[in-house]
Parts: sequence; structure tokens; C-alpha cells
Amino acid sequence: MIVTSSAEAVGRRVRAARARGLRIGFVPTMGSFHEGHLSLMRRALGERLYTVVSVFVNPLQFAPREDLARYPRNVSRDRALARTEGVHLFFAPREAAFYPPGFRTRVRVEGLGDVLDGRSRPGHFEGVATVVARLLHLVEPDVLFLGRKDFQQTVVLRRMIRDLGMPVRVDVRPTVRERDGLALSSRNAYLTPSARNEAPRLHRALMEAKVAIRSGERSAARVRRSIRARLGAPPALSVEYVEIVDAETLEPVRRLAGRVVLLLAVRLGRARLIDNEPVRVP
Ligand code: PAF
Repeated sequence: MIVTSSAEAVGRRVRAARARGLRIGFVPTMGSFHEGHLSLMRRALGERLYTVVSVFVNPLQFAPREDLARYPRNVSRDRALARTEGVHLFFAPREAAFYPPGFRTRVRVEGLGDVLDGRSRPGHFEGVATVVARLLHLVEPDVLFLGRKDFQQTVVLRRMIRDLGMPVRVDVRPTVRERDGLALSSRNAYLTPSARNEAPRLHRALMEAKVAIRSGERSAARVRRSIRARLGAPPALSVEYVEIVDAETLEPVRRLAGRVVLLLAVRLGRARLIDNEPVRVP
């Protein structure tokens, strides 16, 4: 595995791989790997792609009072895990080189980045779109691998890629979960033991709603209310939002039909957790 912090070296290695007839797969991450990250790498490697993994805790996607300083970081462990998986190129840029002094460009996907998580995390998706646009420009992959756990992020990035005509296919992979349903996330490290006990409620509430929809429920308001009721109330957990939206436009729906997604965000002690469940309604 090649390890580098140099954008120029990434370009060189990727061009060399292409010259050998290989196609490029890219897994962008903020590190602190868990099975969700590893499953994306395995997918890329399984497709016999020259697999590039980036690790960069992107300051642009953290609002001023968010957890940038305490976000879990462990690059040497990440490097060892990526090597074990068989990743070809491990790119961990330094912030000062990635965003040199004077860097002023931002990529904003209107309408998709300022709803749901974007409402409570202003600037977050602008930060995500900016870093991913810059990474795609460096790596020029054939396939970009993203986890469905961050559903809104996948919608924002697909739209950016389509709007800017970037020649990359997006492969969104299913959320990887603990045995009790909790979606894997680097931020699960913030959960205290008692918050961790409450956390499976998120997935359970979504799955029960999905069963109700499959049994014929078509009112989004009723489904939202039942999810909230199952999530519970403070002090155990406080709900930031429960929404049901169109899977492509992220617009809230009233009657359930077509491809919709149930999304929620909650606070559990110091942790903010998100989860979602896509549903195809006949
Ligand atoms: O999902 C993440 O880890 C990040 O938002 C991403 C896509 C790597 C951009 O920093």
C-alpha cells in the first residue's frame, strides 16, 4: 500500500494505475475506521478497482461549536486496517496543504444542503461538497463509494456530481449495523454506557414504521408521530427531527408513495446520532 500526504503523488499514482489499464475506486473518509468504512473498501477491492482511501477530518464541515477538536482520530490504526484490507493508495493530506492560505472556494448544493441536518448544522453540506469536489478532482475515480448511513450526504453529492458533469459513478452501500441495530458511526464513541443502551431505539423505531407502511399506512404525519413516540422523550433522548422525504428531492411528503426515506436525528447525551430507512411504497 502506498501511503502519502501529497496531492501531487496521488495524481501520479492514479495516472500510473490507469496506464496499467486499471479503473479507480475511491472511498473518502474522516478516518477512525469501523466496519462501515471497511465494507466500502472491500466493495471497491471486490470490483477489482485500484482502491484509493482518503483520511481527512475536514474542518469545513464542522460548525464553530461542533466537535472538530475532539473528533476521534487514529491515523496509524486506520493505515494498518487499510493495509490489511489490501487498499492500494492511502491518502492522508495535511490541512495546510489541502486548504492552503487564501483558499476561498465553496461548493453549495442549493435546497438539498440546508434542510434536515443542514438546518441544525449550517454550512455542513457546503463543507462536505467542497472537500469531496476537491478530492474527486485529485483522484478522478471511476467509482465513488459512500455509505447510506449519511443519506442526505449521498443526495447532496450525487446532485453535485450530476450538476457539474463529473465523470464518476456513485455507489451507495447499505448501512452497517451493530447486532442490536445501532448504525456504525465514529461518533458512537461519544455514547456513555447508558446512552448506548438507549441507542438501538432509533433503528427499532424506523423498522416498526416500515412494517406499518408495508401493512398499508400511507399518512406521513401518523408514521412520524409513531416514530417519535417509540423514540421516547428527554432526559433519555431528545429528538431533533423525524422526517419523511422524497428520496431524490428531500422534499417532505404527506402521502406515502414512490421512493421515500424515513430520517431522524436525536441527541443522546453528548452524542448526536442520525439514522434512516429508505422505503419503496407501491
Ligand atoms: O462521510 C464522511 O466521512 C465525510 O463527510 C466525507 C464524505 C469523507 C467528507 O469529509
